[in-house]
Amino acid sequence: MTAGSRFSRITGTGSYLPPRQVSNAELAAELATRGIETSDQWIVERTGIQARHFAADGVTASDLALEASRHALESAGRKATEIDLIVVATSTPDMVFPSTATILQNKLGIAGCPAFDLQAVCSGFVYALSVADSMIRTGAASRALVVGSEVFSRILDFNDRTTCVLFGDGAGAVVLEASDTPGILASDLHADGAHRDILCVPGTVAGGKVLGDPLLKMDGPAVFKLAVHVLEASARAALRAAGRSETDIDWLIPHQANIRIMHGTARKLKLPLDKLVATVQTHGNTSAASIPLALDVACKDGRVKRGDTVMLEGVGGGFTWGAVLLDF
Ligand code: UT7
Repeated sequence: MTAGSRFSRITGTGSYLPPRQVSNAELAAELATRGIETSDQWIVERTGIQARHFAADGVTASDLALEASRHALESAGRKATEIDLIVVATSTPDMVFPSTATILQNKLGIAGCPAFDLQAVCSGFVYALSVADSMIRTGAASRALVVGSEVFSRILDFNDRTTCVLFGDGAGAVVLEASDTPGILASDLHADGAHRDILCVPGTVAGGKVLGDPLLKMDGPAVFKLAVHVLEASARAALRAAGRSETDIDWLIPHQANIRIMHGTARKLKLPLDKLVATVQTHGNTSAASIPLALDVACKDGRVKRGDTVMLEGVGGGFTWGAVLLDF
């Protein structure tokens, strides 16, 4: 590999969903016991979600990340000891510190390589992949484990029907390796903190107490409106940077928040819906985990093949958004 010809490429994918799957009907029945009214019909019509997975009490983001990472390593044909960088995208870390990435590193039985968390909420995986790609291209790393892992059930307000029906738990991971051919073609990342209040968990820890409300708040319609606009703009920017066009995209794998947003994005990019990978129906919104989870599903079921051009796109709290275009 000569200078200027160092790229990064995904060599393996993996994912993990906690075993407890909760259908809309089951969740609606649970909420009804609290006097909260919702229905399978409303959730399916407005979001496409039919079910989500919830982690058992005591199961943490690093536990889910460990399972997804083991699958990704196996799919890449690598041992954990060969990894020289760990980046974990999460908004539901095991603790305030240390990072979930260092806990994952220890659970993988390795030590020494840099490991850190990246906080960009639902755009976290796209951000993490872009950062790992940059580190590999500059020579700071050669074989990275890039993970999105969330236990969003821990920060849901089960008295707020406008949010608690949307999210789920899970993890996805990829092994990203140095390569003399790309790989990652281009990434496009953005943030605008002016919109920080439309999707947030406003609580914090101070003086030995939780200050403020530690549960998720979202102005859904405001997020919806911004999401459709920025996802199209970011995808186009990544295509431009890579010198590619919409017709080159074999698979669109957006953040899985709402099937209506995903269909809207595909339409704006003039992509037929059979090029859209959607797992929101059975995963719900798993925040930073949703893209690597969907990527792994589409790799394992044979849709995404070596050489395919894939557009990954995220949008979420911050407000953050971004896209990564890659040749798989
Ligand atoms: O992951 C980060 C990115 N997040 C997103 O992309 C989420 C973006 N936003 C959305 O996906 C949608 O805005 C939601 C799915 C959150 C909401 O869908 P909507 O079509 O924008 O509905 P709405 O908020 O305008 O609410 C419509 C009605 C309201 O009743 P009224 O005021 O019209 O009487 C809500 O109270 O639906 C009601 N509603 C519900 N009804 C039954 C809200 N949640 C529920 C519910 N069950 N769970």
